[in-house]
Amino acid sequence: MTVIGADAIERAAKAGEALRVAAGDLVTPLARERARDLGVEIVIDAAPSRDEANDRRAAPPADRRPTRTLRPARAAPRATVLGPPVPFVGPPSGALYRRGAPVTAAGPAKPGRVVVVGAGHVGMIAAMRLADADLFDEIVLVDIDEGRAAGIALDLTHTAALSGFATRIRGVGSVEAAGPADYVVVTAGRPRRPGMSRADLISTNAAIVGDVAARVAATSPQSVMVIVTNPLDEMTQHAWQVSGFPSSRVVGMAGVLDTARFQALAALGSGVRADRITAWALGSHGEEMVIPLSQAGADGHPLDRLGLPETIDRARGSGAEVVGLLKTGSAFLAPGMSAARMVLAMARDTGEVLPAAVLADGSYGIRDVYVGLPARLGRRGVAGIVELPLRPDELTALREAADRIRERLAGLARAS
Ligand code: LAC
Repeated sequence: MTVIGADAIERAAKAGEALRVAAGDLVTPLARERARDLGVEIVIDAAPSRDEANDRRAAPPADRRPTRTLRPARAAPRATVLGPPVPFVGPPSGALYRRGAPVTAAGPAKPGRVVVVGAGHVGMIAAMRLADADLFDEIVLVDIDEGRAAGIALDLTHTAALSGFATRIRGVGSVEAAGPADYVVVTAGRPRRPGMSRADLISTNAAIVGDVAARVAATSPQSVMVIVTNPLDEMTQHAWQVSGFPSSRVVGMAGVLDTARFQALAALGSGVRADRITAWALGSHGEEMVIPLSQAGADGHPLDRLGLPETIDRARGSGAEVVGLLKTGSAFLAPGMSAARMVLAMARDTGEVLPAAVLADGSYGIRDVYVGLPARLGRRGVAGIVELPLRPDELTALREAADRIRERLAGLARAS
Protein backbone atom coordinates (compact mmCIF):
# COMPACT_ATOMS: atom_id res chain seq x y z
CA MET A 1 0.00 0.00 0.00
CA THR A 2 1.29 3.43 -0.92
CA VAL A 3 0.23 6.59 0.84
CA ILE A 4 -0.80 9.20 -1.71
CA GLY A 5 -0.18 12.67 -0.38
CA ALA A 6 -0.95 16.17 -1.61
CA ASP A 7 2.47 16.37 -3.32
CA ALA A 8 1.49 13.62 -5.76
CA ILE A 9 -1.67 15.55 -6.59
CA GLU A 10 0.31 18.72 -7.18
CA ARG A 11 2.70 16.89 -9.52
CA ALA A 12 -0.25 15.50 -11.47
CA ALA A 13 -1.82 18.96 -11.65
CA LYS A 14 1.44 20.42 -13.03
CA ALA A 15 1.64 17.67 -15.62
CA GLY A 16 -2.05 18.19 -16.44
CA GLU A 17 -2.67 14.49 -15.92
CA ALA A 18 -5.01 12.37 -13.87
CA LEU A 19 -3.35 10.59 -10.95
CA ARG A 20 -3.36 6.80 -11.18
CA VAL A 21 -3.42 4.92 -7.92
CA ALA A 22 -3.57 1.25 -7.09
CA ALA A 23 -6.72 -0.11 -5.56
CA GLY A 24 -5.06 -0.68 -2.20
CA ASP A 25 -3.41 2.72 -1.97
CA LEU A 26 -4.35 5.17 0.72
CA VAL A 27 -5.24 8.69 -0.39
CA THR A 28 -4.91 11.16 2.47
CA PRO A 29 -7.73 13.62 3.14
CA LEU A 30 -5.38 16.50 2.36
CA ALA A 31 -4.61 14.92 -1.01
CA ARG A 32 -8.32 14.55 -1.72
CA GLU A 33 -8.82 18.17 -0.83
CA ARG A 34 -5.99 19.30 -3.11
CA ALA A 35 -7.36 17.11 -5.91
CA ARG A 36 -10.76 18.73 -5.50
CA ASP A 37 -9.22 22.20 -5.56
CA LEU A 38 -6.91 21.57 -8.49
CA GLY A 39 -9.42 19.50 -10.47
CA VAL A 40 -7.17 16.45 -10.58
CA GLU A 41 -8.92 13.17 -11.28
CA ILE A 42 -7.85 10.17 -9.24
CA VAL A 43 -8.04 7.04 -11.33
CA ILE A 44 -8.00 3.71 -9.57
CA ASP A 45 -5.97 1.19 -11.57
CA ALA A 46 -7.34 -2.21 -12.44
CA ALA A 47 -4.55 -4.31 -10.89
CA PRO A 48 -5.68 -5.36 -7.43
CA SER A 49 -3.21 -5.47 -4.60
CA ARG A 50 -2.37 -8.85 -3.10
CA ASP A 51 -4.74 -8.17 -0.23
CA GLU A 52 -7.52 -7.24 -2.60
CA ALA A 53 -6.96 -10.44 -4.59
CA ASN A 54 -7.00 -12.48 -1.38
CA ASP A 55 -10.12 -10.68 -0.31
CA ARG A 56 -11.85 -11.63 -3.48
CA ARG A 57 -10.80 -15.25 -3.24
CA ALA A 58 -12.26 -15.36 0.24
CA ALA A 59 -15.31 -13.34 -0.72
CA PRO A 60 -18.74 -14.69 0.20
CA PRO A 61 -21.36 -15.16 -2.54
CA ALA A 62 -22.38 -11.90 -4.15
CA ASP A 63 -25.76 -11.71 -2.47
CA ARG A 64 -24.19 -11.93 1.00
CA ARG A 65 -21.21 -9.76 0.26
CA PRO A 66 -21.19 -6.44 2.06
CA THR A 67 -21.16 -3.48 -0.29
CA ARG A 68 -17.59 -2.52 -1.10
CA THR A 69 -17.07 1.12 -1.70
CA LEU A 70 -13.77 0.81 -3.56
CA ARG A 71 -13.57 -1.73 -6.31
CA PRO A 72 -10.80 -2.20 -8.83
CA ALA A 73 -11.90 -1.06 -12.28
CA ARG A 74 -13.14 -3.75 -14.63
CA ALA A 75 -12.63 -3.48 -18.38
CA ALA A 76 -11.85 0.21 -18.41
CA PRO A 77 -10.25 1.84 -15.40
CA ARG A 78 -12.91 3.39 -13.23
CA ALA A 79 -12.26 7.03 -12.66
CA THR A 80 -13.41 8.52 -9.41
CA VAL A 81 -13.79 12.24 -9.58
CA LEU A 82 -13.33 13.82 -6.21
CA GLY A 83 -16.61 15.24 -5.32
CA PRO A 84 -17.84 11.88 -4.21
CA PRO A 85 -14.59 11.32 -2.32
CA VAL A 86 -12.31 8.35 -2.89
CA PRO A 87 -12.89 5.87 -0.11
CA PHE A 88 -9.98 4.32 1.68
CA VAL A 89 -8.91 0.73 1.78
CA GLY A 90 -6.85 -0.89 4.47
CA PRO A 91 -6.77 -0.69 8.19
CA PRO A 92 -5.91 2.60 9.87
CA SER A 93 -2.30 2.73 10.95
CA GLY A 94 -1.14 4.42 14.11
CA ALA A 95 1.91 5.74 12.30
CA LEU A 96 -0.31 7.52 9.85
CA TYR A 97 -2.23 9.16 12.61
CA ARG A 98 0.93 10.36 14.21
CA ARG A 99 2.02 11.85 10.93
CA GLY A 100 -1.22 13.77 10.81
CA ALA A 101 -2.89 11.82 8.04
CA PRO A 102 -6.28 10.80 9.32
CA VAL A 103 -7.70 7.68 7.76
CA THR A 104 -11.05 5.98 7.64
CA ALA A 105 -11.90 2.33 7.50
CA ALA A 106 -13.37 1.14 4.22
CA GLY A 107 -16.72 2.79 3.72
CA PRO A 108 -17.93 6.12 2.48
CA ALA A 109 -15.19 8.67 3.16
CA LYS A 110 -16.01 10.91 6.10
CA PRO A 111 -15.08 14.48 6.81
CA GLY A 112 -11.62 13.99 8.25
CA ARG A 113 -10.65 16.34 11.00
CA VAL A 114 -12.26 18.90 13.27
CA VAL A 115 -10.00 21.24 15.19
CA VAL A 116 -11.41 22.87 18.31
CA VAL A 117 -9.37 25.90 19.32
CA GLY A 118 -9.66 26.58 23.03
CA ALA A 119 -9.88 23.64 25.43
CA GLY A 120 -11.98 25.46 27.99
CA HIS A 121 -15.35 24.11 29.00
CA VAL A 122 -17.09 25.08 25.76
CA GLY A 123 -14.36 23.51 23.62
CA MET A 124 -14.40 20.39 25.76
CA ILE A 125 -18.17 19.90 25.44
CA ALA A 126 -18.06 20.61 21.70
CA ALA A 127 -15.31 18.01 21.29
CA MET A 128 -17.26 15.49 23.32
CA ARG A 129 -20.38 15.87 21.21
CA LEU A 130 -18.37 15.68 18.00
CA ALA A 131 -16.64 12.51 19.20
CA ASP A 132 -19.93 10.97 20.29
CA ALA A 133 -21.26 11.43 16.75
CA ASP A 134 -18.65 8.91 15.54
CA LEU A 135 -18.53 10.79 12.27
CA PHE A 136 -14.99 12.13 12.03
CA ASP A 137 -11.57 10.57 11.70
CA GLU A 138 -10.02 12.89 14.22
CA ILE A 139 -10.79 15.71 16.63
CA VAL A 140 -7.92 17.88 17.79
CA LEU A 141 -8.16 20.17 20.80
CA VAL A 142 -5.79 23.15 20.71
CA ASP A 143 -4.93 25.24 23.73
CA ILE A 144 -2.05 27.44 24.81
CA ASP A 145 -2.14 25.22 27.89
CA GLU A 146 -1.04 22.16 25.95
CA GLY A 147 -1.27 19.89 28.99
CA ARG A 148 -4.91 20.77 29.43
CA ALA A 149 -5.65 20.09 25.75
CA ALA A 150 -3.78 16.77 25.90
CA GLY A 151 -5.37 15.80 29.22
CA ILE A 152 -8.91 16.43 27.99
CA ALA A 153 -8.10 14.63 24.73
CA LEU A 154 -6.92 11.57 26.66
CA ASP A 155 -9.85 11.68 29.05
CA LEU A 156 -12.22 11.88 26.08
CA THR A 157 -10.36 9.08 24.32
CA HIS A 158 -11.10 6.90 27.34
CA THR A 159 -14.83 7.29 26.63
CA ALA A 160 -14.61 5.65 23.18
CA ALA A 161 -16.07 2.34 24.29
CA LEU A 162 -18.59 4.03 26.60
CA SER A 163 -19.94 6.24 23.83
CA GLY A 164 -19.17 3.92 20.93
CA PHE A 165 -16.93 5.94 18.67
CA ALA A 166 -13.82 5.30 16.61
CA THR A 167 -12.82 8.95 16.29
CA ARG A 168 -9.24 9.69 17.39
CA ILE A 169 -8.69 12.63 19.72
CA ARG A 170 -5.48 14.62 20.20
CA GLY A 171 -4.62 17.65 22.28
CA VAL A 172 -1.89 20.05 21.11
CA GLY A 173 -0.48 23.48 21.86
CA SER A 174 -0.91 25.22 18.50
CA VAL A 175 -3.15 25.44 15.46
CA GLU A 176 -0.17 24.41 13.33
CA ALA A 177 0.42 21.25 15.35
CA ALA A 178 -3.21 20.27 14.88
CA GLY A 179 -2.75 19.98 11.10
CA PRO A 180 -5.18 20.77 8.30
CA ALA A 181 -8.84 20.52 9.21
CA ASP A 182 -12.20 20.37 7.50
CA TYR A 183 -13.87 22.33 10.30
CA VAL A 184 -12.37 24.61 12.92
CA VAL A 185 -14.39 25.63 15.97
CA VAL A 186 -12.95 28.75 17.60
CA THR A 187 -13.79 29.08 21.29
CA ALA A 188 -10.56 30.81 22.35
CA GLY A 189 -10.96 34.13 24.11
CA ARG A 190 -11.38 35.78 27.49
CA PRO A 191 -14.61 35.93 29.38
CA ARG A 192 -15.64 39.32 30.70
CA ARG A 193 -14.32 39.94 34.21
CA PRO A 194 -15.36 42.48 36.80
CA GLY A 195 -14.01 45.88 35.89
CA MET A 196 -13.65 45.08 32.22
CA SER A 197 -15.65 47.18 29.81
CA ARG A 198 -17.35 45.67 26.80
CA ALA A 199 -14.88 47.57 24.62
CA ASP A 200 -11.99 45.95 26.53
CA LEU A 201 -13.44 42.55 25.83
CA ILE A 202 -13.92 43.32 22.14
CA SER A 203 -10.34 44.41 21.60
CA THR A 204 -8.81 41.67 23.79
CA ASN A 205 -10.74 38.94 22.06
CA ALA A 206 -10.31 40.51 18.62
CA ALA A 207 -6.55 40.12 19.09
CA ILE A 208 -6.95 36.45 20.08
CA VAL A 209 -9.51 35.60 17.38
CA GLY A 210 -7.53 37.51 14.75
CA ASP A 211 -4.39 35.54 15.58
CA VAL A 212 -6.27 32.23 15.48
CA ALA A 213 -8.04 33.13 12.20
CA ALA A 214 -4.73 33.97 10.52
CA ARG A 215 -3.19 30.68 11.66
CA VAL A 216 -6.25 28.71 10.55
CA ALA A 217 -6.16 30.41 7.14
CA ALA A 218 -2.53 29.34 6.72
CA THR A 219 -2.92 25.81 8.10
CA SER A 220 -6.39 24.89 6.87
CA PRO A 221 -7.08 27.12 3.88
CA GLN A 222 -10.09 25.06 2.81
CA SER A 223 -11.73 24.74 6.21
CA VAL A 224 -15.01 26.10 7.49
CA MET A 225 -14.58 28.16 10.66
CA VAL A 226 -17.28 28.23 13.32
CA ILE A 227 -16.74 31.14 15.70
CA VAL A 228 -17.98 30.86 19.28
CA THR A 229 -15.91 33.58 20.99
CA ASN A 230 -17.78 36.63 22.29
CA PRO A 231 -18.86 39.21 21.36
CA LEU A 232 -20.04 36.70 18.84
CA ASP A 233 -21.28 38.66 15.86
CA GLU A 234 -18.35 41.06 15.90
CA MET A 235 -15.77 38.29 16.39
CA THR A 236 -17.23 36.32 13.47
CA GLN A 237 -16.94 39.29 11.14
CA HIS A 238 -13.42 39.95 12.40
CA ALA A 239 -12.37 36.33 11.80
CA TRP A 240 -13.82 36.50 8.28
CA GLN A 241 -11.88 39.68 7.51
CA VAL A 242 -8.59 38.40 8.89
CA SER A 243 -8.85 34.96 7.28
CA GLY A 244 -9.62 36.21 3.79
CA PHE A 245 -11.99 33.23 3.50
CA PRO A 246 -15.18 33.50 1.47
CA SER A 247 -17.98 34.42 3.86
CA SER A 248 -19.61 31.03 3.23
CA ARG A 249 -16.74 29.45 5.20
CA VAL A 250 -16.92 31.66 8.30
CA VAL A 251 -20.01 31.33 10.41
CA GLY A 252 -20.87 32.26 13.99
CA MET A 253 -22.58 30.10 16.60
CA ALA A 254 -25.22 31.84 18.62
CA GLY A 255 -28.64 31.43 17.06
CA VAL A 256 -28.63 27.69 17.72
CA LEU A 257 -27.86 28.33 21.38
CA ASP A 258 -30.32 31.18 21.81
CA THR A 259 -33.04 29.22 20.04
CA ALA A 260 -32.40 26.19 22.24
CA ARG A 261 -32.67 28.36 25.33
CA PHE A 262 -35.96 29.80 24.13
CA GLN A 263 -37.28 26.32 23.32
CA ALA A 264 -36.28 25.02 26.75
CA LEU A 265 -37.82 27.96 28.58
CA ALA A 266 -41.00 27.93 26.50
CA ALA A 267 -41.31 24.21 27.25
CA LEU A 268 -41.06 24.88 30.99
CA GLY A 269 -43.86 27.40 30.69
CA SER A 270 -46.16 25.43 28.41
CA GLY A 271 -45.80 21.72 29.07
CA VAL A 272 -44.91 21.13 25.40
CA ARG A 273 -41.65 19.26 24.89
CA ALA A 274 -38.77 21.59 24.00
CA ASP A 275 -37.98 19.65 20.84
CA ARG A 276 -41.56 20.14 19.58
CA ILE A 277 -41.22 23.90 19.74
CA THR A 278 -40.01 25.73 16.66
CA ALA A 279 -38.47 29.16 16.89
CA TRP A 280 -35.69 31.26 15.39
CA ALA A 281 -33.33 33.36 17.48
CA LEU A 282 -31.98 35.96 15.06
CA GLY A 283 -30.25 39.35 15.27
CA SER A 284 -27.37 39.67 17.71
CA HIS A 285 -26.17 37.32 20.43
CA GLY A 286 -27.08 39.79 23.15
CA GLU A 287 -29.33 42.77 23.69
CA GLU A 288 -30.57 42.88 20.10
CA MET A 289 -31.63 39.23 19.96
CA VAL A 290 -34.82 38.90 17.90
CA ILE A 291 -37.09 35.89 18.38
CA PRO A 292 -39.97 36.56 15.96
CA LEU A 293 -43.22 35.33 17.48
CA SER A 294 -44.74 35.12 13.99
CA GLN A 295 -42.39 32.18 13.38
CA ALA A 296 -42.72 30.44 16.76
CA GLY A 297 -44.90 27.37 17.07
CA ALA A 298 -45.44 24.05 18.78
CA ASP A 299 -46.22 20.98 16.71
CA GLY A 300 -47.10 23.25 13.81
CA HIS A 301 -49.53 25.40 15.80
CA PRO A 302 -48.83 28.97 16.90
CA LEU A 303 -47.54 29.14 20.45
CA ASP A 304 -49.87 30.45 23.10
CA ARG A 305 -48.76 34.07 23.35
CA LEU A 306 -49.33 34.28 27.07
CA GLY A 307 -46.02 34.80 28.82
CA LEU A 308 -43.96 34.60 25.64
CA PRO A 309 -42.47 38.11 25.80
CA GLU A 310 -41.11 37.21 29.26
CA THR A 311 -39.75 33.95 27.91
CA ILE A 312 -37.95 35.85 25.14
CA ASP A 313 -36.47 38.26 27.69
CA ARG A 314 -35.29 35.36 29.81
CA ALA A 315 -33.74 33.61 26.79
CA ARG A 316 -31.94 36.86 25.92
CA GLY A 317 -30.55 37.08 29.44
CA SER A 318 -29.85 33.37 29.87
CA GLY A 319 -26.08 33.64 29.43
CA ALA A 320 -25.90 36.25 32.19
CA GLU A 321 -28.29 34.23 34.37
CA VAL A 322 -25.94 31.22 34.22
CA VAL A 323 -22.89 33.43 34.90
CA GLY A 324 -24.69 34.82 37.94
CA LEU A 325 -25.31 31.33 39.32
CA LEU A 326 -21.87 29.91 38.52
CA LYS A 327 -20.09 33.01 39.89
CA THR A 328 -16.96 32.09 37.96
CA GLY A 329 -17.07 31.29 34.28
CA SER A 330 -20.00 31.17 31.93
CA ALA A 331 -22.34 28.61 30.41
CA PHE A 332 -20.70 25.76 28.56
CA LEU A 333 -23.04 22.79 28.09
CA ALA A 334 -25.58 24.42 25.78
CA PRO A 335 -22.92 26.58 24.02
CA GLY A 336 -20.59 23.61 23.38
CA MET A 337 -23.44 21.41 22.19
CA SER A 338 -24.69 24.16 19.91
CA ALA A 339 -21.29 24.56 18.25
CA ALA A 340 -21.08 20.81 17.68
CA ARG A 341 -24.63 20.81 16.33
CA MET A 342 -23.60 23.26 13.60
CA VAL A 343 -20.51 21.28 12.62
CA LEU A 344 -22.54 18.08 12.47
CA ALA A 345 -25.20 19.74 10.31
CA MET A 346 -22.48 20.78 7.86
CA ALA A 347 -20.61 17.49 7.88
CA ARG A 348 -23.80 15.49 7.33
CA ASP A 349 -24.59 17.80 4.44
CA THR A 350 -28.35 17.44 4.70
CA GLY A 351 -29.01 21.08 3.83
CA GLU A 352 -30.38 21.83 7.26
CA VAL A 353 -31.42 25.43 7.97
CA LEU A 354 -30.19 26.72 11.33
CA PRO A 355 -29.98 30.20 12.81
CA ALA A 356 -26.37 31.37 12.55
CA ALA A 357 -24.27 34.52 12.36
CA VAL A 358 -23.68 34.94 8.63
CA LEU A 359 -22.66 37.76 6.34
CA ALA A 360 -25.95 39.34 5.26
CA ASP A 361 -26.36 39.33 1.50
CA GLY A 362 -29.24 41.77 1.07
CA SER A 363 -31.87 39.36 2.40
CA TYR A 364 -34.08 41.09 4.99
CA GLY A 365 -32.76 44.39 3.60
CA ILE A 366 -29.41 43.87 5.39
CA ARG A 367 -26.07 43.70 3.67
CA ASP A 368 -22.35 43.39 4.46
CA VAL A 369 -22.51 42.75 8.17
CA TYR A 370 -22.51 39.52 10.20
CA VAL A 371 -25.83 39.05 11.96
CA GLY A 372 -27.97 36.10 13.07
CA LEU A 373 -30.14 34.86 10.19
CA PRO A 374 -31.54 31.49 9.12
CA ALA A 375 -28.79 29.85 7.08
CA ARG A 376 -28.81 26.70 5.00
CA LEU A 377 -25.71 24.77 6.02
CA GLY A 378 -23.87 22.35 3.78
CA ARG A 379 -20.59 20.52 3.76
CA ARG A 380 -18.70 23.60 2.64
CA GLY A 381 -20.36 26.03 5.04
CA VAL A 382 -23.20 28.44 4.37
CA ALA A 383 -25.09 27.48 1.24
CA GLY A 384 -27.59 30.33 1.46
CA ILE A 385 -29.71 32.59 3.64
CA VAL A 386 -33.38 31.71 4.00
CA GLU A 387 -35.94 34.51 4.17
CA LEU A 388 -38.74 33.98 6.65
CA PRO A 389 -41.97 35.97 6.22
CA LEU A 390 -41.38 38.28 9.19
CA ARG A 391 -43.83 40.92 10.34
CA PRO A 392 -42.78 44.55 9.72
CA ASP A 393 -41.95 45.14 13.42
CA GLU A 394 -39.80 41.98 13.50
CA LEU A 395 -38.01 43.05 10.34
CA THR A 396 -37.34 46.46 11.85
CA ALA A 397 -35.90 44.87 14.99
CA LEU A 398 -33.63 42.65 12.87
CA ARG A 399 -32.36 45.62 10.89
CA GLU A 400 -31.71 47.53 14.10
CA ALA A 401 -29.69 44.58 15.41
CA ALA A 402 -27.57 44.71 12.26
CA ASP A 403 -27.08 48.48 12.72
CA ARG A 404 -25.89 48.03 16.33
CA ILE A 405 -23.42 45.30 15.31
CA ARG A 406 -22.14 47.59 12.55
CA GLU A 407 -21.63 50.40 15.07
CA ARG A 408 -19.66 48.15 17.42
CA LEU A 409 -17.51 46.95 14.54
CA ALA A 410 -16.80 50.57 13.62
CA GLY A 411 -15.74 51.14 17.24
CA LEU A 412 -13.41 48.16 17.05
CA ALA A 413 -11.89 49.45 13.80
CA ARG A 414 -11.30 52.87 15.42
CA ALA A 415 -9.67 51.28 18.47
CA SER A 416 -7.24 49.17 16.44
C1 LAC B 1 -23.59 32.46 26.58
C2 LAC B 1 -22.22 32.75 26.10
C3 LAC B 1 -21.52 31.50 25.76
O1 LAC B 1 -24.55 32.97 25.98
O2 LAC B 1 -22.25 33.60 25.01
O3 LAC B 1 -23.73 31.72 27.56
